[in-house]
Amino acid sequence: MNAMEWEHLPEPDLTGRTVVMTGASDGLGREAALQLARWGAELVLPVRSRSKGEIVAQRIAHETGRPDAVRLTHLDLADLDSVRHGADEIARTVGDRGIDLLISVAGVVSRRRGTTADGHELMMGVNALAPLLLTELLLPRVRERIVIVASQSHTFGRIDLSDPHFRRGGWSLRAAYGRSKLSTMLWGRDLADRLQARGTGVDLQLVHPGWVLTNLQNATGSARLDRLVTDVTRPIAMSAVRGAAAVLMAATQPLPPGSYIGPDGRGALRGRPTFLRRSPAALDRELAREVAAWARTEVGLADG
Ligand SMILES: NC(=O)c1ccc[n+]([C@@H]2O[C@H](COP(=O)([O-])OP(=O)(O)OC[C@H]3O[C@@H](n4cnc5c(N)ncnc54)[C@H](OP(=O)(O)O)[C@@H]3O)[C@@H](O)[C@H]2O)c1
Repeated sequence: MNAMEWEHLPEPDLTGRTVVMTGASDGLGREAALQLARWGAELVLPVRSRSKGEIVAQRIAHETGRPDAVRLTHLDLADLDSVRHGADEIARTVGDRGIDLLISVAGVVSRRRGTTADGHELMMGVNALAPLLLTELLLPRVRERIVIVASQSHTFGRIDLSDPHFRRGGWSLRAAYGRSKLSTMLWGRDLADRLQARGTGVDLQLVHPGWVLTNLQNATGSARLDRLVTDVTRPIAMSAVRGAAAVLMAATQPLPPGSYIGPDGRGALRGRPTFLRRSPAALDRELAREVAAWARTEVGLADG
């Protein structure tokens, strides 16, 4: 367990608990899935690539000795129809047992302005809007906790609800990724508050995993340059195994509702998971309500 730097927290027992987690086909989500399975969880993993999902499922079966620990479903977060169908498939797969933990890890960095099947700016669509829709559609089945991976990059995001998808210009990787993650922090905060007010017994936690060496860093457009960036940053950034620790803490430890968990090192780049401070914008309850209402309308939820 030392590789996870988990030794300062009690190890959970997730035997018989159902965990639904996106983003488990690669990166830090893959490592988090393995650890959750080691702790006994039954995993339902919605993935867009069946073949990548099967590799993860085989690894988990091999390492845990539980051939049925993982069930795969299909989900493409860049297409809200796929999210609706994906939520139905997840609901059928978990059946009456429901979902103990719903964890949204999947995310994307794009070096050019792309769009989703619904015409949304790609990072806004995949990182913020689709996870909101998936969460809301599955909410009635969640029994314990929702975990949403956002990012400390929310600190350089700016909300502009007059042009949220950069259709009038101003797109840059930094501006769009930051905006997508700030939007996630805001709807996450709003939903955490609403869950608490409703007294549902379900809470919501937000996560920044730290600076983690994964595919996400490969955004230069050149394989050689990507390798160079990876080599240069290797001594500073965390491995995917260690990057999973904040997700695992947020998923399994007793925490105040609506906490924001990430590494304790300088700039929240690396370290052991702890409580992080968020930007003033991410703490703005009025902005959170506005962004959540906008996002709910954008994904076609009735009471947007
Ligand atoms: N790495 C960091 O330094 C860092 C820092 C802060 C926050 N984060 C956040 O941490 C999360 C995980 O990132 P990572 O670093 O592990 O990146 P990664 O290695 O690129 O993994 C991203 C995961 O998201 C999935 N995904 C991407 N687009 C998808 C889509 N349209 N539909 C369904 N799944 C999709 C990928 O599936 P495929 O396998 O099919 O590609 C993969 O499983 C992201 O939300 C990211 O923003 C990462």
